[in-house]
Formats: sequence, structure tokens, C-alpha cells
Amino acid sequence: MSDGSSFYVTTPIFYVNDVPHIGHAYTEVAADVLARWHRQAGDPTWFLTGTDEHGQKILRTATANGVSPKAWADKLVAEAWQPLLNTIDISNDDFIRTTDARHEVNVQLFLQRLYDAGYIYTGEYEGYYCVGCEEYKQLSDLVDGTGQYEGQLVCAIHSKPVELLKERNYFFKMSEFAGRLLELYKTRPDFVQPESVRNEIVSFVSRGLTDLSISRQTFDWGIKVPWDESHVVYVWFDALLNYATAAGYGYDEEKFARLWPATHIVGKDIARFHAVIWPAMLMAAGLEVPKQVYGHGWLLVGGEKMSKSKLTGIAPEQITDTFGSDAFRYYFMRAINFGQDGSFSWEDLAARYQAELANGFGNLASRVIAMVTRYFEGAIPAAVETAVTEAERSIRATERRVTAAADAAVSRLAIHEAIARIWELVDELNGYITEQEPWKLSKDPANADRLATVLNTAVRGLGTLAVLLSPVVPEAAAKLWVALAGVGTVQEQPIRSAYEWQGGDRVEPLEALFPRIEVEATA
Ligand code: MSP
Repeated sequence: MSDGSSFYVTTPIFYVNDVPHIGHAYTEVAADVLARWHRQAGDPTWFLTGTDEHGQKILRTATANGVSPKAWADKLVAEAWQPLLNTIDISNDDFIRTTDARHEVNVQLFLQRLYDAGYIYTGEYEGYYCVGCEEYKQLSDLVDGTGQYEGQLVCAIHSKPVELLKERNYFFKMSEFAGRLLELYKTRPDFVQPESVRNEIVSFVSRGLTDLSISRQTFDWGIKVPWDESHVVYVWFDALLNYATAAGYGYDEEKFARLWPATHIVGKDIARFHAVIWPAMLMAAGLEVPKQVYGHGWLLVGGEKMSKSKLTGIAPEQITDTFGSDAFRYYFMRAINFGQDGSFSWEDLAARYQAELANGFGNLASRVIAMVTRYFEGAIPAAVETAVTEAERSIRATERRVTAAADAAVSRLAIHEAIARIWELVDELNGYITEQEPWKLSKDPANADRLATVLNTAVRGLGTLAVLLSPVVPEAAAKLWVALAGVGTVQEQPIRSAYEWQGGDRVEPLEALFPRIEVEATA
């Protein structure tokens, strides 16, 4: 068990039936910002992401493309999912594929242990299965189809017909865990968050749990059930275990003890798997449940959950090619309250890029560095104690306040709020420069002490911003840090004392952090 300061954060592992869209990238960025923040705070941090490669959905896609499922998965991982991590600057420590041997072998080990402990039995199952969700559905989960599916019941998420399946399967005695799960939600209200998702989970489990079918016999693209190779493990049971098998479960117990338990960042659509099935599996195996399951909201396009299957998918590169990865990261983390749904629009992205990143932050950095270059030939001036006024004291106080407030917000996973707090410093520094008018101070040598003090304060404020914003806009923060002659890399600067930086010797030239963009081309 970890001592509490360690931070093991995960994303869902993504299906490789298709290429990534911005909804997937959104989850990645959120987990990445949290991981970078904790790393920079000095907390032992481990960030896992990966791909979910078994099951009928992948098998069907591969077959339709005339290749084996493994060949299909290899291609998608190499050509789409791994490159996504570069596209949006993800700092993951590990990447797990459910076809990795470390995963397959230890899923079997886990399953065998549950079997030996009496938690698994054979039974018949008949129900409606949605291959898109890879899940049996209750009738109440289905809605009337429209268009080509008129007259049929379809999955509410995928808007596609479900399939009636009748199989002899292995079952996990999940129903036995309803009481313990409810107790968990009650004694640890933070276990599932945000509150809206927690309420949904509590009410779902309060209605009682059925046992879970955990094997399939009608196809063979999956991990074989160890005591009966005519079955493969149900893809969700297999997939959820990635969080344990990547962390050393079954083969590196020291690592597992160090990392576990994890904070799982998932979309709210899959919170049930993570907050009900997964802790029940862990309880059955005698393992600790996760630290937290956080179900974030959906990116909506035209009012609907954005998805490739509904043809509303937008590829991350469509945004990063024009705006860059920092702007992508900033925009989604800032514009959407983490935990709620949010609508994506090109207009909003372009407007925030221009107002907040280019004019607000980028311009501030360029102006301050240009003034130090012009008035002090690049040498960062020291503040003169006798010239310090209330305005400088206010900036220093804001630096401390926003550092603490942003850290507190990150610990609640309120990423949007952390950025909003940091932006108070951006805004205050901009106002400070406007009011102090260093360009006027520079005209009269009698004001030399004030000019030095104002530019010293502005440079230190920028240093604080570089340190605090590094988890969100790592490229811009790194460039700014170099321009400010910061020692080492910005990622090494302790984020919880971001305001302590004293300034370097000389500024270096700084290219525009967020250059002007011809928006028409992307609209
Ligand atoms: N393979 C499963 C997860 C297994 S985890 C043990 C899966 N994969 S998925 O490829 O469909 O991607 C799921 C995740 O992508 C969602 O939980 C969510 O985090 C993210 N998103 C997919 N579409 C999204 C939006 N439109 N908006 C926000 N996030 C979305 O489910």
C-alpha cells in the first residue's frame, strides 16, 4: 500500500477498432495535467495509459478489413494510438496493451484465484448485447431506433441495434458485493466523483446487483479462461485488470505495493464498470479498491456526445496542426468544467486562443522580456527595497495565493478551477504593467529604482507562471523558462512553491509563445 503521497493515475484503455478523436484526447490530457502537476510537486507519480484490444468489436473490425485482430491492433497502436501521445504531449510512464504477455498471463492468474476462492460458477445467460459497448443491456437501457433502425430497439449510446445472445458462460458472483460496495460509497464519499456520477452509481447499486457473465464461447479473440480453454474472458473483465497488471500484479509485487491503489480518470459512460465491477473484482481477490474513480463529462458536438460512429468525430490533429498542442491542452482544460459536459466549437477555441493565450499570456511574456532587453540590455534588474510599493506586494501575495489555490483545486481534480486561479496572476500582471507604465518610467533617470523594481516584479511573476502553467502548456512554459534564464528545466521546479523563484541573470530572446493564427482557414 502506498503512503498517500504517491499518485498513480490512469486513463481508460482505448479500443483499437478505430483511430482517436478529441474525446479520447480529452481524457488523456486531463490525466496528463494531473500527473505532471503531482510529478512537479515531488509526489511519487506513475501515469498509465494504453489500449484495449480484445473482444468482438475489434474482431469484427479486423475481419471486415481482411486482417487478423492482432495485426489490426498492431497497426492501429503504431499508426494512431502511440502517435496521439506525441500529438498532445502526453507524459505517460507506461503504455499497456491487453495483448501484452504481462497482462494476459496475470489476467489468467487473477481469474484462477477467483475461481479457486469460489467466486466463479457456470450458468446460462440470455440477453441483449451491444457490441459497441461490449456489454449486456437491460431493456431499460434501450431506446427506439430511428432512420434505418426504425422499429428496432437500439443502444442509447451507440444508436445501433443490440443482439440477442444466449450462451453458457462463467459467472462472477458480483451480487455478493452490493452491500460492501454501498458501504464503500458511504464511508468514502470521494471514492466516486463527481457528485452526479456518485449519485448515479449509488442508486444503481442500491437496486441490487446481478452476477456478471465473464466469459464468451462463440468467438476466440481474447484471453483463454485458464481452466476451460473453450472460453475467452469477457473483454471488460480483461480490460479492467490492465490497471493491476501494468502495475506489477502477479509478477512484481514490490512495484504493485508501491503503486496501488490508483486514481482512475474515465468518461462518465464507463464509470459503472470502474466504480461497481472493478472494486467488486478487487474485493473478491482480497485487494485494495482504487483510491478514486472520477467520471468526467462528455465533449458534445451539435449537442450530442461526439463520436466517430455518429460521424461527429474530430481528430486531434485537426486542432493541433493549426493551434499547437499547448493550445489544445489549455482549451479543453480551461473551457470545460472538469466533471461536466462541454460543447466544442471552433469559434470558442479561436476566441480563447486569441484572447487568453496570445493576448493575455503570450503578449505579457513578450512585452516584459522586450522591456528588460530595451531598458537593461537584457540584464534582469534587482528590485530596490525602498522602491517597493503596495502594487508589488499585491503581486507577491497573488503569486502565493494562486499557487495554493491551484494546488488545492488540482487535489479536488478541479483542473478548470486551477487554471482559472492561475489566470488571476496573468490578469493582475497585465494590469500592473498597464498601470506602472514602465515605458514612461524609463524616460526619467530619477525613476530608475522604480523601473528596476517593476520589471523585476514582472519577471518574477512570469517565472511563477511558467512553473504553474508547465503541466498545462508544457512547451510554452519551457520556452519561457529558457527566456527567463531559469536554472534547470521548468518541470524540475517545485510547483507548490512556484512563487519562490528569485529570477535569473539575463533574459534571452523569446519568440511569440502563441503566434497569430488565420482562423478563417479552420472554421
Ligand atoms: N475500452 C474501453 C475502456 C476500458 S478501461 C478498462 C472504452 N474505450 S473507448 O475507446 O470507447 O474510450 C473510452 C473513453 O474515451 C471514455 O471513457 C472517455 O474517457 C473517452 N471518450 C470517448 N468519447 C468521448 C467524448 N465524446 N467526450 C469525452 N470523452 C470521451 O470504453
